[in-house]
Amino acid sequence: MTATMAAHDHGVRAEAARRRTFAVISHPDAGKSTLTEALALHASAITEAGAVHGKGDRRGVTSDWLAMERERGISITSAALRFEYAGMVFNLLDTPGHADFSEDTYRVLAAVDGVVMLLDAAKGLEPQTLKLFDVCRHRRLPVITFVNKWDRPGREPLELLDEIEQRIGLRPTPLTWPVGVAGDFHGVLDRRRGGFVRYTRTPGGATRAAEQLVSAEQAEAEHDTAFAVAREELDLVAATCGDFDPDSYAAGASTPVLFGAALPNFGVRQLLDTVVELAPAPAPRPDAAGATRRLDAPFAGLVFKVQANMDPAHRDRIAFVRVCSGRFERGMVVTHSATGRPFATKYAQQIFGQDRAVLDTAFPGDIVGLVNAGSLRVGDALYDGPAVRYPPIPSFAPEHFATVTARDSSRYKQFRRGVEQLDSEGVVQVLRSEQRGDHAPVLAAVGPMQFEVATHRLEHEFRAPVRLDRLGFSLARATDVAGAEALRTTSDVEVFTRGDGALLALFPTKWRLLSLQRHHPDIRLDPLVAGT
Ligand code: G4P
Repeated sequence: MTATMAAHDHGVRAEAARRRTFAVISHPDAGKSTLTEALALHASAITEAGAVHGKGDRRGVTSDWLAMERERGISITSAALRFEYAGMVFNLLDTPGHADFSEDTYRVLAAVDGVVMLLDAAKGLEPQTLKLFDVCRHRRLPVITFVNKWDRPGREPLELLDEIEQRIGLRPTPLTWPVGVAGDFHGVLDRRRGGFVRYTRTPGGATRAAEQLVSAEQAEAEHDTAFAVAREELDLVAATCGDFDPDSYAAGASTPVLFGAALPNFGVRQLLDTVVELAPAPAPRPDAAGATRRLDAPFAGLVFKVQANMDPAHRDRIAFVRVCSGRFERGMVVTHSATGRPFATKYAQQIFGQDRAVLDTAFPGDIVGLVNAGSLRVGDALYDGPAVRYPPIPSFAPEHFATVTARDSSRYKQFRRGVEQLDSEGVVQVLRSEQRGDHAPVLAAVGPMQFEVATHRLEHEFRAPVRLDRLGFSLARATDVAGAEALRTTSDVEVFTRGDGALLALFPTKWRLLSLQRHHPDIRLDPLVAGT
């Protein structure tokens, strides 16, 4: 290896080491948008809180590109927010909060190195958090927990820790401890550095929080009772939960916990510092065969999301690529794993909601938006040098099914194109069968809201108004050609081919499936697990 190459390699490793690529997982309303704003605000990526996520009359930049999102105050699409803090580059990937879009979240979680699990202090672990946590466990992602809304009445901190341990089996190791009960919050004790961080409310809350580091003695004098309680609790915590443990955190067996409130900016800086210090930097990523490609190997990236028409003014299609190894230089010609064809990266961008900037160079952990990348599909790899393929990104099993037909037959071509587009983006899964024909494909979704998005997009982007007819199926199983043949004449059951070639048998109820399995144990009917 020449001296220049060695310097280059070192550059990639050093750049990777200062990347933190993560997502926030939470139940809707736990405060994810607020926290995202607060994190970016601390890092000064934006000048005023409220400029990141649109909710209500706040100006939306990152993710509410669709009118539907604005109306409902949910974020459907995921975008990446990039900011620098303490010499580190943060890539914060947005995940949709609504359960119906878990599929999207799955893909985002394939592109991160760690997550922040955000809990509402009054609610603890909620259903969507549990579901998303399962994905994190499956992917062995390390989890930092942030207990939010401590400025409001909520539950006891010890009770919340207990819930984390009991329900998801993660050992909580608090890094900070609240002084004053939820709703009457004075600040936190910093367990690792010692001392007390005092919070003072600032009017409006949308500015950098007033926080002050004071000595334990001074704090004790100011908040004697609350302080005594906190100290007592901390003794208990030290005895039961122990201290932060890097190995079990990395293995997904323990979670560092911080207490704060995103809205008045309490504890947000500590969260950023924790991500800097403890969250993992990008590591060599295993390929489909289980081999790892070094971080400083030639460029390789994973397409984890494809999104069309993010901005109606642009009407384009963007593939989001997570850089896994090497240095990405805009303009380089790489190879597309699915076709083996060269792919030019002239239109590489950094996407910040509707704002875009040309992205010239990127390193492991970074997210590159490739504009008009029509041939790229979720799960594909792009690489320079030796070929690489990544393991398939898992998907949730659909539970809702509907046929979709064009209402206006003169728009059939646009309808077809639209359905193909939705399929390639994974907005819905598209199933086809000979019996039903090509004009009436079946859309399969995890949650019914996906149908609304599909219908809305077909109508508004492709100008192809559609009719949706819900089907009475509620679960799908993977079968094979022999199974499909055997099921052809079975009543209540239909077999379809999915876009990726998988054969899916749809059942109206679990009971119907069970009875069929009992009578025909020879028919292959596998649960739809990761990657099938
Ligand atoms: P989400 O993205 O997870 O769905 O949650 P979001 O940030 O929109 O927060 C949900 C609600 O909780 C918002 O109130 C938000 O202001 C509030 N919130 C978030 N963090 C905190 C916190 O630390 N303390 C308190 N007290 N409230 C918090 P909203 O009334 O539903 O919306 P908005 O009109 O304020 O935007």
